[in-house]
Amino acid sequence: MPVQRTLSIIKPDATERNLTGAINAVFEEAGLRIVAQKRIRMTRAQAEGFYAEHKARGFFGELVDFMISGPVVVQVLEGEDAVARNREVMGATNPANAAEGTVRKRFAKSIGENSVHGSDGEASAEREIAFFFNLAEIVG
Ligand code: CMP
Repeated sequence: MPVQRTLSIIKPDATERNLTGAINAVFEEAGLRIVAQKRIRMTRAQAEGFYAEHKARGFFGELVDFMISGPVVVQVLEGEDAVARNREVMGATNPANAAEGTVRKRFAKSIGENSVHGSDGEASAEREIAFFFNLAEIVG
């Protein structure tokens, strides 16, 4: 299996409940290495740009408002098959459908306030990592 990198975001509902360390422990126990991490307050323009592919969706406004409602932790996770591995560990977008033991099953409040974001493929991982990080900030 190839070593990959993927972008992860710990969302405002999770930072508000002080869950950054608990979520990071799940990643590390799953064999994902946190090779870059920063806590930021996203601007509206950043949130709209990051989620541009969802612009036409009915929940877009709500999504952007939520992502700028509090601090987020953006991070790069590295490991074998990291994109798929992280999606496995996160669980389904809607916590009602997420498997036992996944981050969203354990911590998410709703489909909107679902604690974490993870890239959905290799191409989006590359684009999303570059959206938040310079190469020099990623230390593997
Ligand atoms: P994420 O993985 O960050 O990618 C897009 C986000 O849109 C998704 O997680 C959800 O948090 C959010 N989302 C998807 N569907 C809905 C919905 N029906 N209502 C509110 N938010 C949604």
